[in-house]
Amino acid sequence: MCGIIGIVSDKGNLKDRVIEGLKRLEYRGYDSAGIALRTEEGLLIRKKKGKVSQLEEELRNLRISSRAAVGHTRWATHGEPNDPNSHPHTDCRGEITLVHNGIIENYLELKEDLRRKGHRFRSQTDSEVVAHLLEEELKEGGSFMEALGRVVRRLEGSFALVVLNSREDALYIARQDSPLVVGLGDGENFVASDIPAFLSWTNRVVFIENGEMGKLTLSSVEIYDFQGRKRDKKPQIINWSLAQAEKGGYKHFMLKEIHEQAKAISDTVGPRIERDSNSVVMEDLPLSPRKIKDILILACGTSYHAGLVGKFYFEELAGIKTDVDYASEFRYRKPVLSPSTLVIAISQSGETADTIGALRKARSLGGKVLAVCNVVGSSITREADAVLYTHAGPEISVASTKAFTTQLSLLYLLAVYLGREVGKIERKEEARLVSGILSLPSRIERMLREEKERIREIGVDISAYTDALYLGRHLNYPIALEGALKLKEISYIHAEGYPAGEMKHGPIALIDENLPTVFIATESKVLDKVRSNMEEIKSRRGKIISLLSGEHPEIEELSDAVIKVPEVDEYLFPIINIIPLQLIAYYAADFLGHDVDQPRNLAKSVTVE
Ligand code: AGP
Repeated sequence: MCGIIGIVSDKGNLKDRVIEGLKRLEYRGYDSAGIALRTEEGLLIRKKKGKVSQLEEELRNLRISSRAAVGHTRWATHGEPNDPNSHPHTDCRGEITLVHNGIIENYLELKEDLRRKGHRFRSQTDSEVVAHLLEEELKEGGSFMEALGRVVRRLEGSFALVVLNSREDALYIARQDSPLVVGLGDGENFVASDIPAFLSWTNRVVFIENGEMGKLTLSSVEIYDFQGRKRDKKPQIINWSLAQAEKGGYKHFMLKEIHEQAKAISDTVGPRIERDSNSVVMEDLPLSPRKIKDILILACGTSYHAGLVGKFYFEELAGIKTDVDYASEFRYRKPVLSPSTLVIAISQSGETADTIGALRKARSLGGKVLAVCNVVGSSITREADAVLYTHAGPEISVASTKAFTTQLSLLYLLAVYLGREVGKIERKEEARLVSGILSLPSRIERMLREEKERIREIGVDISAYTDALYLGRHLNYPIALEGALKLKEISYIHAEGYPAGEMKHGPIALIDENLPTVFIATESKVLDKVRSNMEEIKSRRGKIISLLSGEHPEIEELSDAVIKVPEVDEYLFPIINIIPLQLIAYYAADFLGHDVDQPRNLAKSVTVE
């Protein structure tokens, strides 16, 4: 996700105000920044790779008179972070410029069509296509707003657009699936991805809904639907502080990012699914599917836990032997790889030193490396043979949440794709598996609505203990590990994840009334075994918290607290099950008064060994 802002004002100083607004949006992305200002001589555009502060430094001595401007701070999704790929983008003649947040899923076909009409592109981005589309549509005559309407009706995917042209002090906007909010000022108006960008200047806002577009001038704001029909919008007053506004009203970035997971999963899987046939469309891999004899996953921490789930996906859905190794261990072993080994390096940041080291070792042994990463242009993506990006947006909180669930979603899609390509999954089964993940975000949203209060109470309860155990089997064993990691890394309560079947081999000696056990007891072929493990704990007076799906009164009977998880396809339970465990950790840490987003001793990206 990126941060975009537009200001139309006769109060001057627009360059500095756009820069200030962009700084308030840097939590949405910070790999490049840019600004466009309308002047009497035309559009002045400055943009560069790097943070907003670097752009600010470059513009320090720029004195400019302008009454309409747009700005952008980028989180790259298409095209690596560099100056040409930075926003704003323009049409061929530099008379139209725009900033965009979102993913235009049909940009390649639109770009080819525009190229055939003679348009020349300066970037690899999907966003630039929209500026050239507008240039083309304006040749058809009519107003700028009518041309914008024709353009947005052709776009597929998500977009929040703010457009500026060289002829008028006006901003044109449009929104589909990416946030956009208008700020109503006195003799000036604002538009941005999020309220913090202009909250210093007004707290009167109008939220732009999907399928709406509009025009902002010094003295007016007109909103229409994409068919050009006028919309009456009711202004709202925002009473948040600036700090609250940057977190979208949530107390911490972690809580905000937990609640962004449904959208992050949609943004990650959406562009890789052909909706008519519910089939997977996957980017190029370093090895063609039928040449892959085995898979080796390398990662650290939460990403390693994603890899453990990936093992089940690749072996059970695609029939490909898969190993998972801690990157920090792999790099000092004498592993055996072959040219038909697909190495998958999973990393949210793309900067983890151990994972980079392991990737380099794997390549030196002949492995072909596919990176699964959330940061475009990061070190790991530049050293891998190919990259699959998650589209979780910037993950600010040190504790990884939405990166994890988007990694799982991407590994699931990749396994379905490989399964189909090697003939293990029939088309009908592929469509069923794809339909399952498409319906997952709405199940997640429902669970968050219905279970959040109960989960909060459990989190507060568990904060009273010094130790906790997380147990799961099969696909949910890695989720037990990840749930334990979340609790220990932000609440500092010692927590251990274990395969439930392993309890009788030693750990059950720990059980008494002072040790809560979180059981992942959602629907699965091993649920009976999980229930037996619960009975073993209960008979030793252990306190049991269960994640449960479907109707299992016998399991409810064994539980001191139950969190209901909506029914999903068996392979999707790991993705939905981790979310209550993230929230348990969050509420425990918050109740204990810890710095949830910046836990002690930890860094967001471990760039040292
Ligand atoms: C998870 O909550 C931690 N922040 C940590 O384990 C993290 O997953 C690990 O350092 C790997 O980071 P990466 O995904 O950026 O490579």
